[in-house]
Amino acid sequence: MSTDTTAPAHHEAALTHHEPDHAAIASVDANSSDVASSSANAHGYRGFALGEFLFARDEYFAYVTWPTGQHVMSVDTFLRALQRDVAWDFFYGIVNFDGVFGTMNHYGTVDLFAGRYNDAYRKAELDHMENVETPVIRDTFTAIIKDWTNESFDPFASPAETGSAFGPKSGNNDAAVTRQRVTAERMVGLPGDEQPRSDESGFPINRQFLDVSQEEPQVNPEPGYEDRVAAFSLKAYLSRSDVTWNPSIVSVCRDSLMCPTTEEYILPIIHGNDRSEWFIQLSDEITWEVEDRDTGRKRATVVCKAGDVAAMPADIRHQGYSPKRSMLLVWENNSGEIPELINSGKIKPQPVDFE
Ligand code: PHB
Ligand code: FE
Repeated sequence: MSTDTTAPAHHEAALTHHEPDHAAIASVDANSSDVASSSANAHGYRGFALGEFLFARDEYFAYVTWPTGQHVMSVDTFLRALQRDVAWDFFYGIVNFDGVFGTMNHYGTVDLFAGRYNDAYRKAELDHMENVETPVIRDTFTAIIKDWTNESFDPFASPAETGSAFGPKSGNNDAAVTRQRVTAERMVGLPGDEQPRSDESGFPINRQFLDVSQEEPQVNPEPGYEDRVAAFSLKAYLSRSDVTWNPSIVSVCRDSLMCPTTEEYILPIIHGNDRSEWFIQLSDEITWEVEDRDTGRKRATVVCKAGDVAAMPADIRHQGYSPKRSMLLVWENNSGEIPELINSGKIKPQPVDFE
């Protein structure tokens, strides 16, 4: 602790730079009983511990350390990835923040890893992994994103539509970092469910979608069917999205989830699938870099132009590049049985064979 005069001087220096240590991270956050954090460093940011992983930030960088190594990332990249991991509650399969650090969801527990899915780290035996209870990592990651996000930065926004993530601590942006993901229970537009967006509800048309028609379909359900018949313009809905790389659930049919999203710049995570998923490029263009999920070896570059459909297999990881804001429909199968069916070889990692 900064007030602990018995601590060796290098502990002080360590926490303000990139080597936070466990002795420094002894205090427990008053609001969240399982979050271990230190007091603010010279830049105003707290340090955090989760198992043997330590997290620190300064003006430009996020530092992650573990018993056999350490890692540094640009803090804007780190916060954009952390934001998705938190908002999606650890998502499907693996959320790689980059080629080294990330999480793997076991739906109840989460693996926190460094170098685990990186051939070079594995061969050098520098990789490290810890399995933690989901509520503990959820609380810790939420505390980090709140403490490390300045007033000027929205990790969900495109870089052209937000300010800087850098510099000493300056306010917070809790309204942005605690945004609720849209998750319709049946479909957008049905009574009692998520509703289409409008200027009045605080969702103006995005600068890059000003040409998108705002016409809505006319719906005239027979009496008695008002609760079961609805329609909305998906393109108009997406033209008013204020976030990027954040799939919303707009319709649900058993395990079939329609998850459209608007994309600009780079998907802030490299997603390691635990099931196959389908991409339908609704507008513009995204280039996907596709790698082997476990080693990171390059497998393909997939350029999706408007109208293209791609099936992403369960044994890859991918990251998308969208040079201008584009509309993408991600189609997910939410069944909890799929990862095991694939791991046991009962179903193939790819949903279709073209032979
Ligand atoms: C994906 O990993 O499949 C994914 C995630 C976020 C997006 C699009 C695709 O916005
Ligand atoms: Fe994916």
